[in-house]
Amino acid sequence: MQELLRRFAFDTICKVSLGTDPGFLDASLPESTLADAFEVASAISAKRGAAPVFAVWKAKRALGLGSEGQLRAAVKLIHASVMEIIRTRKTELKKGTQHNDLLSRLIVGGHKDEVIRDMVISFVMAGKDTTSAALTWFFWLLSCHPEAETEVAKEAKQAKGRLDYHALKDMKVLEACLCECMRLYPPVLWDSKHAAYNDTLPDGTRIKKGDRVTYFPYGMGRSEKLWGKNCMQFDYRRWLSESGDVVRESPFKFPVFQAGPRVCLGKEMAFVQMKYVAASVLREFELRREESRKQRPALVPLLTAHMAGGLHMVVEKREEMDSILNAKLST
Ligand code: HEM
Repeated sequence: MQELLRRFAFDTICKVSLGTDPGFLDASLPESTLADAFEVASAISAKRGAAPVFAVWKAKRALGLGSEGQLRAAVKLIHASVMEIIRTRKTELKKGTQHNDLLSRLIVGGHKDEVIRDMVISFVMAGKDTTSAALTWFFWLLSCHPEAETEVAKEAKQAKGRLDYHALKDMKVLEACLCECMRLYPPVLWDSKHAAYNDTLPDGTRIKKGDRVTYFPYGMGRSEKLWGKNCMQFDYRRWLSESGDVVRESPFKFPVFQAGPRVCLGKEMAFVQMKYVAASVLREFELRREESRKQRPALVPLLTAHMAGGLHMVVEKREEMDSILNAKLST
């Protein structure tokens, strides 16, 4: 599941940002070199961020050695591929072909090619593994909590026909479950900033120019002080008000999409995409964990929260909802 979700998210974000579908999800096509280059670049960048001594990777970068040489080659390939897409799109737009993607809007906005290239690459990087990480942990957690899974499936079944924007907006239980999953397994586990100048945090902590300051959504999501005694339990109901609406928590308590002026620009899109995938799958299929893999999976902190060994599920066509509910009531 993890691999399928990652491939799907990559195709989706390329379609939205670049207006092209690399077909990474289609196993019958040859491997996408662009997707591979993004993989290599993000894995090596994540290792840079986690390295205890920066001097080592900086020296390797200066000499173009090892992983730094690979990173340079991956970045070169990504830049060249995106520049090629920009050139082709410019020609198409000049001929009057209509395009709705981010790239075309930036071209029409008159930005320089290098600026456009870097902006669309940022979007691909930001959107390619985040929603898939959230969904991987979502499907796993729901398989551990069948009552929540039944509620989500019921809600998805009630939205008969097309899962359009409005139908997805109305899915409150699904949204609550996604928030609860991201509280326990935030796709971005931690996030660092470097101080541009000396500063003092609201609690009086002094920060010097150049200091690295990290906030830790994974730790905050499991903090008893913030979430109460049952902070380690999966309880999607904490996200539902008495009237059934989703509780809007402060981003400073739930900083999964960051807080302040530079919050995630793709949050709304991420929810639409995650709800669409979750509802489409769960209204048709039941997903169970493989018997041999029932223990808690290990989390690998790459740039996003990766599940070690992937997510292996047994997929079955869902029976009619009534018979599921009856079976659950009789046991
Ligand atoms: C569950 C999914 C997602 C999560 C948890 C998430 C989380 C985050 C976080 C924590 C940041 C702040 C990073 C930083 O500045 O240090 C961020 C920024 C950003 N995200 Fe997301 N993201 C998600 C999905 C997406 C998607 C699908 C897109 C694109 C459509 C996107 C686009 C962006 C962009 C462009 C920024 C940079 C904003 C800025 O610097 O002003 N994100 N996201």
